[in-house]
Amino acid sequence: MSSKLFLLLEYLALSSVILFQLEPRLGASNNITRCIDEEREALLTFKQSLVDEYGVLSSWGSEDGQKDCCKWRGVRCSNTTGHVKVLNLRTSDYEFARRKFLKGKISPALLKLRGLRHLDLSKNDFGGSPVPEFIGSSQQIEVVSQLHSLKTLVLRWCYLPPINPSFIWLFNLSTSIETLDLSDNHLPSSSVYPWLFNLSRNILHLDLGFNHLQGSIPKAFQHMVSLRFLSLASNELEGGIPKFFGNMCSLNQLYLPRNKLSGQLSELIQNLSSGCTVNSLEGLCLYANDITGPIPDLGRFLSLKVLKLGENHLNGTINKSLSHLFKLETLSLDGNSFTGVISETFFSNMSNLQMLFLADNSLTLKLSHDWVPAFQLKWLSLASCKMGPHFPNWLQTQNQLISLDISNIGISDTIPDWFWDLSIELFFLNLSNNHISGKLPDLSVLKSDDIVIDISSNNFDGPIPPLPSNSTFLNLSKNKFSGSITFLCSIVKNTWNIFDLSSNLLSGGLPDCWLNFNSLSILNLANNRFSGKIPDSMGFLHNIRTLSLHNNRLNGELPSSLKNCSKLRVLDLRKNALFGEVPTWVGGSLQNLIILSLKSNNFHGNIPFQLCHLAFIQVLDLSLNNISGKIPKCFSNFSMMIQEKSSNPIIGLANEILVVPGYIYYFRYLDNVLLTWKGSEHEYKSTLGFVKYLDLSSNKLCEAIPEEITDLVGLTALNLSRNNLTGLIPPKIGQLKSLDFLDLSRNHFSGNIPSSLSLLSGLSVLDLSYNSLSGKIPLGTQLQSFNASVYAGNLELCGLPLPNKCADEESTPSPGRDDDANTLEDEDDQFITLGFYVSLTLGFFVGFWGVCGTLMLNRSWRYGYYNFLTGMKDWLYAAAAMNKSNL
Ligand SMILES: *[C@@H]1O[C@H](CO)[C@@H](O)[C@H](O)[C@H]1NC(C)=O
Ligand SMILES: *[C@@H]1O[C@H](CO)[C@@H](O)[C@H](O)[C@H]1NC(C)=O
Ligand SMILES: *[C@@H]1O[C@H](CO)[C@@H](O)[C@H](O)[C@H]1NC(C)=O
Ligand SMILES: *[C@@H]1O[C@H](CO)[C@@H](O)[C@H](O)[C@H]1NC(C)=O
Ligand SMILES: *[C@@H]1O[C@H](CO)[C@@H](O)[C@H](O)[C@H]1NC(C)=O
Ligand SMILES: *[C@@H]1O[C@H](CO)[C@@H](O)[C@H](O)[C@H]1NC(C)=O
Ligand SMILES: *[C@@H]1O[C@H](CO)[C@@H](O)[C@H](O)[C@H]1NC(C)=O
Ligand SMILES: *[C@@H]1O[C@H](CO)[C@@H](O)[C@H](O)[C@H]1NC(C)=O
Ligand SMILES: *[C@@H]1O[C@H](CO)[C@@H](O)[C@H](O)[C@H]1NC(C)=O
Repeated sequence: MSSKLFLLLEYLALSSVILFQLEPRLGASNNITRCIDEEREALLTFKQSLVDEYGVLSSWGSEDGQKDCCKWRGVRCSNTTGHVKVLNLRTSDYEFARRKFLKGKISPALLKLRGLRHLDLSKNDFGGSPVPEFIGSSQQIEVVSQLHSLKTLVLRWCYLPPINPSFIWLFNLSTSIETLDLSDNHLPSSSVYPWLFNLSRNILHLDLGFNHLQGSIPKAFQHMVSLRFLSLASNELEGGIPKFFGNMCSLNQLYLPRNKLSGQLSELIQNLSSGCTVNSLEGLCLYANDITGPIPDLGRFLSLKVLKLGENHLNGTINKSLSHLFKLETLSLDGNSFTGVISETFFSNMSNLQMLFLADNSLTLKLSHDWVPAFQLKWLSLASCKMGPHFPNWLQTQNQLISLDISNIGISDTIPDWFWDLSIELFFLNLSNNHISGKLPDLSVLKSDDIVIDISSNNFDGPIPPLPSNSTFLNLSKNKFSGSITFLCSIVKNTWNIFDLSSNLLSGGLPDCWLNFNSLSILNLANNRFSGKIPDSMGFLHNIRTLSLHNNRLNGELPSSLKNCSKLRVLDLRKNALFGEVPTWVGGSLQNLIILSLKSNNFHGNIPFQLCHLAFIQVLDLSLNNISGKIPKCFSNFSMMIQEKSSNPIIGLANEILVVPGYIYYFRYLDNVLLTWKGSEHEYKSTLGFVKYLDLSSNKLCEAIPEEITDLVGLTALNLSRNNLTGLIPPKIGQLKSLDFLDLSRNHFSGNIPSSLSLLSGLSVLDLSYNSLSGKIPLGTQLQSFNASVYAGNLELCGLPLPNKCADEESTPSPGRDDDANTLEDEDDQFITLGFYVSLTLGFFVGFWGVCGTLMLNRSWRYGYYNFLTGMKDWLYAAAAMNKSNL
């Protein structure tokens, strides 16, 4: 799911880059021309076959005031002939984000627009369009030849049904077409390859990205001698890059990222450099393929401005020939296995470099303290390169940076003062996972919108500095910040989305001004020393999905205002001193909860039956409280726990995206669970969705386990230990086939161990000790393979692995049985000290996603685009859900 989502994001960026280049200025109304009657009728017929729920085409009509079709939305006519020249019904990004687009069929009436030069129907849903009808009713060739002047055909994301090859032929591509964009239509090879050969030799721009093209790159491109731009991004293409690409003398941009291309980079480059392409190629994008080997000599590609080889399997040292590419603006080699040292001389000719991505290799950068680079970078990512221990002083010369990632590069230093001056324009700053110490200056001076700051896992101390109010993502966790956070109340208006101060030394009460923070979707204040009550105003966090306050010193009852936080999916209040009864509204109002931990507090009273309304709950931890009464039968209503399979392995609680021209930053916040036993931690992060955990241990629960518990067949861990439970272990316990972990120890269970228990073949931890179980331990490899301590303290149990044989067997008293018992007791204590516990930790996953495209440094464009993506967010969630269900 996640990779699909990112593909989608990437696609959005890519497509907009291209659109930005292509989009002519449209919609200027024209006084002089009046539309041709026949074309008006054709357009109205075309409209009739569409479903226009949002009145996109309300200006299209036959009323008196509307007759001039040249003034209709999306229509532009030739001012000399009056023919419709442009039909552009591409859904705007804003409307697309709100799913306000046209649906229905493409009527063949369109073919009557014989002066049409530019047709763009992108981002509409023609998924139901029976294209065969379109084709069927327009077999007359005379109709076809009417479209002989079409130069631009853009049908991106139109949900086109697999195109019948003759559909394309209708446009007589062989003569006129210059720009063809059929990207993102899920088209299979079989509906593209046949007509590729018939594309005109005049085609300049061809985008077939985000389809399902398979096999090796077809020979058809060989004939497209004028081609300047080719994108086959995000398909399923295999093999290498055919040799004829070396002879495409006009080829300027070649985008092949996210395919399954393989082979040695040296051979591939050899193919590309066999002819004139070496001179024309400015953009070469091959990231995220399966290309291997070292970087060969690239010195002949002197026109290259964009070289993206990231996320392949390249290795070896970085070839010095790269340093001759003096026009390079973008160099991305990240996510490979490069080794060796890069020094200053490597960059000495690269004065045009603006984007440098070397992250996630095994590279060492040896750059001297007083180095003055020839370039002025805007984007720099050196994450996980070896550079420390000093803060890279040469960054001082880079005063145009807007995105900087120097996480995990081994800095053990303080941040020099100049750094904060140069970074005023930054909107992405990642310094995490170093050993940077010292105090932070006033960060509210950072002027960018929607700034992302991650300085987690360092040694910063002192108070939390003033923070920028226009940020979306602020991660200051895992440092040594101290003092109170009441300063938050002085921040009036803000756009914060994710705010993490966890694992610091912060103290005092929680501020009571959360009304101002209602854009927050994740708030993590865990592992600090906060005290006092959970403030009522937290109920204003209407958008909160994850609220993590665990391991503090909070007391008092849960404020009932929290019931307004109905989007909560994770509520982690573990390890505090909260008291009162478990409120009934938790089950009544927080019905989206996936993870609820009240562990290790002072809650008392019964488990309210309303808790059974938590249909999505996957981790319910009420352990280490004073909860009494019975285990509710209605726990069998936990729908997610009664399913063996999980639909979604990742519980990613936020996908937040930021865009710079040509680049997308995404970050996800993955909740993860650490299940720990016997000192070894089992982390569930990308698989958290598979963890289904019920822990009621160390309370005062009594009476028998309701039989309904055995309906929770998806449970992976069940801990009911250290209660006052009685009766039999449910005979159907063997139904819990997903169980990995079962602890029923230290209760008063009696009777035999049900033989079905031996069916739990996946069980890796079992504890039945200190009950009143009796009889023979059922035979079955699983139960015998556990250590005897698992059964200790049940005086009437017998049979293997216990030393005492059962009465029906030959009975020889085991010598030294008391000693054994003592040993077991010791072991058991150790077992308990190490503890069974689930620890919920929350972690960020921040990254960025490259998009092929020449750099566009227009900031206003960036803002516009970001707004679009902000609007996109809901839709992205929907899309992700859709993809999920498709999987
Ligand atoms: C268009 O028509 C309006 C009124 O009919 C007139 O005021 C305007 O000057 C015209 N514009 C052009 C460019 O002819
Ligand atoms: C038609 O429009 C073009 C620009 O689109 C303009 O240069 C030309 O002068 C116009 N012709 C007439 C007759 O208005
Ligand atoms: C395509 O257009 C060319 C030139 O207008 C014409 O000669 C040819 O017959 C057309 N082909 C079809 C299949 O209509
Ligand atoms: C492509 O052109 C060839 C002739 O050049 C023709 O025979 C074939 O039918 C065309 N294919 C399609 C799909 O139109
Ligand atoms: C080089 O070109 C040949 C011939 O087109 C092709 O078979 C081979 O796969 C290509 N090699 C690479 C690594 O692209
Ligand atoms: C660069 O590549 C060329 C051609 O493959 C090779 O001869 C040369 O040794 C390489 N240089 C380095 C430093 O790897
Ligand atoms: C690069 O990877 C290949 C295949 O894994 C391996 O055979 C080769 O030794 C590696 N080269 C270097 C320089 O690490
Ligand atoms: C936040 O962004 C808005 C809109 O771009 C801007 O007007 C405002 O000045 C910014 N605030 C700060 C504190 O930079
Ligand atoms: C446990 O339950 C028994 C009877 O079921 C009761 O007598 C006893 O007081 C309970 N103990 C605790 C600690 O609740």
